[in-house]
Amino acid sequence: MSEPVQTPQTKFTPRIFSGIQPSGGLTLGNYLGALKRFVEKQDEGIETIYCMVDLHAITVWQDPEKLRQQTREGAAAFIAAGIDPARSILFNQSQVSAHAELGWIFNCVARMGWMGRMTQWKDKAGKNAEAASLGLFAYPSLMAADILAYQATMVPVGEDQKQHLELTRDIAIKFNNDFKVDFFPVVDPIIEGAATRVMSLRDGTKKMSKSDPSDQSRINLTDDSDMIAAKIRKAKTDPEPLPETVDGLKDRPEAKNLVNIYAALSGQSVDQVVAEYAGAQFGSFKPKLAELAVAKLSPITTEMNRLMQDPAEIDRILGQGADRAEAIARPIVDKVYDIVGMIRSRGR
Ligand code: TYM
Repeated sequence: MSEPVQTPQTKFTPRIFSGIQPSGGLTLGNYLGALKRFVEKQDEGIETIYCMVDLHAITVWQDPEKLRQQTREGAAAFIAAGIDPARSILFNQSQVSAHAELGWIFNCVARMGWMGRMTQWKDKAGKNAEAASLGLFAYPSLMAADILAYQATMVPVGEDQKQHLELTRDIAIKFNNDFKVDFFPVVDPIIEGAATRVMSLRDGTKKMSKSDPSDQSRINLTDDSDMIAAKIRKAKTDPEPLPETVDGLKDRPEAKNLVNIYAALSGQSVDQVVAEYAGAQFGSFKPKLAELAVAKLSPITTEMNRLMQDPAEIDRILGQGADRAEAIARPIVDKVYDIVGMIRSRGR
């Protein structure tokens, strides 16, 4: 590969894109690492585009009816958390064909070796990579297409998506180089705050995930107050009290996780939380955390349940969002076809 083209970011309008897979119910990890921050970005006045990535979800088997339900539920979670569909664009990926089209072109730009190095691929495909779908392997190239179909410049995500965003940058740079253009921005990942990696409540070394077989490992956005409190009460900890300083959380993954969750939910820094609870036992910290989690999450759950009563309204919102998304992505992807050398003569 030749030297990367220096892409002047000033050429591109600041625009935020991010997505969530409807491959299960959303968790506290999705809320703190993504949704909550999506709302903050919307409120900063930058153009924000958010997507339920249903094409990504089917890289592993999804029951069709459940997939539809989870897509609506995810959209309801966005709105309940504070995304205003009049200000942000909110839609599901498969309604805007530009994603799949650009994804194909990026499959021809990205290299097998790049995909093979993705830790998420290695984790998800496991030892039996031969049996994994081709879509799962090419997943990051569709993700790059999601972002670059809008020439988005910033992508708020949790820590686990960092490597995929580095690959998005590599694809943009290689495309610009190969075709000698300055067409795609080199995106900035936005990974910030106390909860960029919320861990399992049962094992502080594993990420909290919607696909973990143990429901006790996560807080779901659909859990009621009793369930949230019970899961926090039973969360794994060590026998030590909370430390005097943040350094004291080193090598204590479960303790660190609960403190980080508290900080992210309360909007405090980890230092402030540690200062407030220095020396406290988990027996007294956990009820405080549960109280805070219920106070923050239960209004969202209530609103999600209300929105889910009217699935046609959610579909209407997604459809309108898709129309607005299409209006931005279509000319960009048409230009890509032109750059790549495809004839576009319909209607002439
Ligand atoms: P997904 O659906 O796994 O997660 C959605 C968002 O939630 C974040 N997240 C977490 N943050 C902190 N702690 C956790 N335990 C945790 N679990 C999940 C993720 O980092 C993510 O920001 N590949 C993406 C979806 C995607 C996408 C995109 C994202 C597809 N196209 C384009 C950004 C831009 C994914 O699987 O996220």
